[in-house]
Amino acid sequence: MTLTITQFDAPFGAEIRGLDLSAPIADEDFAAVEQAWLDHHVVAIRGQRLDAAGMVDFSRRFGDLESHMLDQYHHPETPLIIVLSNQVEDGRSIGLADAGSFWHSDVSFRERPSKTTLLYALEVPAEGGDTLYCDMIAAYDDLDNTMKSRLDGLMAVHDYGYRDRLQGERGATVVLSQSQSEATPPVLHPVVRRHPDTGRKALYVSPGVTERIEGLQAAESDELLKAIFEHCLQDKYRLVYKWRAGDLVAWDNAAVMHAATTDTLDPAKGRTLWRTIVSGGPTH
Ligand code: OGA
Ligand code: MN
Repeated sequence: MTLTITQFDAPFGAEIRGLDLSAPIADEDFAAVEQAWLDHHVVAIRGQRLDAAGMVDFSRRFGDLESHMLDQYHHPETPLIIVLSNQVEDGRSIGLADAGSFWHSDVSFRERPSKTTLLYALEVPAEGGDTLYCDMIAAYDDLDNTMKSRLDGLMAVHDYGYRDRLQGERGATVVLSQSQSEATPPVLHPVVRRHPDTGRKALYVSPGVTERIEGLQAAESDELLKAIFEHCLQDKYRLVYKWRAGDLVAWDNAAVMHAATTDTLDPAKGRTLWRTIVSGGPTH
C-alpha cells in the first residue's frame, strides 16, 4: 500500500492513508509520518485496530514515552497509556473524563514538556467531544514586528494548579493529591519558542496553564496575554477535529495548543480513548 497525505479542509492538519499500525511500520514510512506531523502539526491515521502494546510500539517511534501522573487512570496492561473516558463500570470511572476542556499544550507545566501526544479512539459519539487545535506557528508568523520584538526574550510562568484556581467555582476537573501537587511547581518557558526540529518560532503560552509573564506588572501581563490569546484564537488558526472510532491522532505540542470539549459532552454518550505522551526536551 502506498502512503498518501491529504490536508484537512481546515487551516492545518492532515490525514495519512495507507498504514496499518497493528503491524511494524517500515522506517521510510515512519519518516513520512514524522515529516507530515512536522508539516501539518496534527495528523490522523483512521480505521485502525490497536491493542495496548501496538499503541505503545507505534507511539515509541516518536521518542521515549512517559506515564501520566494520574496513575489511577493508567491502562491495566501498561502505565504508558492513560485511559480517557466518561464511562463508569461497577461504580468507578474507567478513565479521566475530561483531559482538559481549556486551551493548553501538553505538560507545559514541566521543564520538559511533551513533544507529541497520541490519542487512539475506541468509542466516540457521533456528535460532540471534538478536540480543538490552534496553530501557534501561524499565529506567531502573523504578528506585526512591534509585537514580535515586544515578546522576544520574555518568559512566562506555567502552573498546573492555575487552571484549578481559574475553575475554582465550577470545581476542578482533577484534584491532585498533595504529593502530585508538590511534584508540579510552576516553571518558566519562553513566550516565543523555537521548534526543536524545524527551528520555526511559535507562541508558547496558553490560557489554561500560563499564569503570567515574568517581570511584568500583573495588569500589563494580563493585558498582554489577553491580546495574544485573542489573536491566536481566531478561526483562521483553528482546527476542529471530529473523532471516529479507530482514529489515531498525533499532534506536535511545540506547534499547537489544543482543548477538549468534554466538559459539555452528555455523559450518556460514551467516549473512550487511549493516550500516550512522548517526552520532549527543555524549551530554552
Ligand atoms: C489530551 C487532551 C483532548 C480530548 O489528551 O491531552 O487534551 O479531546 N485531550 O480528549
Ligand atoms: Mn491535552
